[in-house]
Parts: sequence; structure tokens; C-alpha cells
Amino acid sequence: MAKPFLKWAGGKGKLAPLIVDCLDQHSIPIRRYHEPFLGGGSVFFALQELSLFQDAFIGDGNPNLIATYQVIRDDVASIIAALATLSRQYLMLEESKRPVFYYQVRDRRRPRMPSTKAARLLFLNKTCYNGLYRVNSQGHFNVPHGRHKRPRILDRAGLQEASKALTNVTIEALDFEEACNRAQSEDFVYLDPPYQPLSETSVFTSYTRDGFGIEEQYRLREVFENLTARGVPTLLSNSDHPLIRDLYKGYYLQEVPMGRNINSKATQRSAINELLISNLEQTKNVGGSPSLGSART
Ligand SMILES: C[S@@+](CC[C@H](N)C(=O)[O-])C[C@H]1O[C@@H](n2cnc3c(N)ncnc32)[C@H](O)[C@@H]1O
Repeated sequence: MAKPFLKWAGGKGKLAPLIVDCLDQHSIPIRRYHEPFLGGGSVFFALQELSLFQDAFIGDGNPNLIATYQVIRDDVASIIAALATLSRQYLMLEESKRPVFYYQVRDRRRPRMPSTKAARLLFLNKTCYNGLYRVNSQGHFNVPHGRHKRPRILDRAGLQEASKALTNVTIEALDFEEACNRAQSEDFVYLDPPYQPLSETSVFTSYTRDGFGIEEQYRLREVFENLTARGVPTLLSNSDHPLIRDLYKGYYLQEVPMGRNINSKATQRSAINELLISNLEQTKNVGGSPSLGSART
């Protein structure tokens, strides 16, 4: 069974079964699946496992992340070989010497083969602090070394399964708006943007160099409305924030308790609710899809 191969802030491992249930209960037929904020891909892998779609278009605004998915799809043997080397070099060191090796790998900048670049991203994800992906204003990964006793850097079988699941999937580094433009009424779109932060201290918007601010939340709402007008069934998750409730007034909003979020400071990790927002009611007459949920807010 293919599973996410990265730890990713905002990962939707817990929400995936709910989305699967919704689609299942309402027998929504999906010709093409679109997930433009892919991150760790937990929803994609869950739907793919159940063969819930014929074709899939997945993407993310982070080009390094997408290049990694592409290498896993197209050349998994090379990434496994490169990661095996990094893993061996790291794990054979005494714990006190591992940070030095980590920072050497983190600071490698010269052009490399796609498979070595992808292996570097996976290595950093498994050995950095808390599995974060964060870049500075120059687009350079800047997360410090984590304290894992014996991290599982290479999961050979997991990568091979992921590679199989990604076969024939279109994977592109795209802005979400462009990705959504091609969705049609027989398709299904799942949108999982960087969340509107619940407080100043919970801000985590640096997955990409450009961040994701309030203007982006407004732009996303326009895209959501455009999908609705075109009859494309869409689910969107976001934080349970007054702004988000206001932006999506008139759509079905379901509260979902999500437990802890990733925050670099342990004291600022707290249980949060999320919203699952649906246009299935609005699109059923346009695209013929049945409705989801019953609690209109
Ligand atoms: C909350 S995460 C998605 C998490 C994912 N659902 C999972 O389960 O791991 C949001 C993602 O949006 C991406 N992103 C940020 N700005 C974007 C943009 N303008 N277009 C597409 N993706 C973007 C980030 O790189 C990040 O991977």
C-alpha cells in the first residue's frame, strides 16, 4: 500500500478517511482527480489506494517537492541508491557528529542530478527538526538539524510502492489557479492550502519562497467560486478562522477536530479545529454530483 513518503506540515493523514467516506457515501464518480496543494500527498495516496479515480493531476507551488515526486515516479532506483548512501554515511557517525554532516548536505548548492537532489530533500526531511520544510527569502532550505536517535531515512519498499502509485499521474509545479483552470464537471478537486493562521504566533507559511497571505486566501476563494460556477465538485480544508468562515459563507462547512499542528515551538502546538468546505450542493445541478453533509453554517 502506497503511503506519503515525507512528513509535511499540514499533512492530512487524519482527514483523508473523512474525504474518502464523503466520496464513498455519495458515490461521486471521479473521472479526473486534481490536488494542487499536494504537500505530502496523504489524500492523493488514500484515494489512489481505493482506485477512486481514473486519472490524476497533482501539483504544488514548491518546485523542489514536485521534482522529488517526479523522480520517484520516473527513476525510483536512482533515488533509492542516492538515499542509501546518505543514510549509511549519516547513521555510521556518532550522534555528536551527525549535525555537521546534516549541515554539509543542507548547504550543498551546486547543480546535481535530479535523483541526488531528490535524495537530499528526503534525507533532510527525515533528519531535520520536526520534519518541517521551510525556506528563506532566497529559497534555501533553512530548517535546523533534528534530534532523532535512529531516523528511518530510507524506506525502500515504501518508495517503490509510491512509485507504482504515481505511474501515469501528471505531476507539475504549478500555481493552484492554473491547476484548477483545467478541472471539469466530471472531475473532483481537493484543495488544501497553507492555513490562515489562528494567531500571530502560529504562522507557518513558508513552504514556498513567496508565502501564502490573506490576498492568497481571497484569490483562492475566487478560484473556488469559479470551480463552483463551472460545476466542479470541490472540497477545501482550512483552519477554523473567522476570515475563512466569512469567505465561504453559503457553502457547507464541516468542523473537523484535527489534534496537534506542526509548530516549531512545542509550547505553541495546540489542538485545533479545521473546516472542510464543500460546494457539492451547489455543483450537483450543474455537474450532476450529489450533495455532501447537512450542516449549513
Ligand atoms: C497544507 S500543505 C498541503 C498538505 C497536504 N495536503 C498533505 O497532506 O501533506 C499546503 C501546500 O501548498 C503549497 N503551496 C503554497 N502556495 C502554493 C501555490 N500558490 N500554488 C500551489 N501550491 C502552493 C505548499 O508548498 C504546501 O505544500
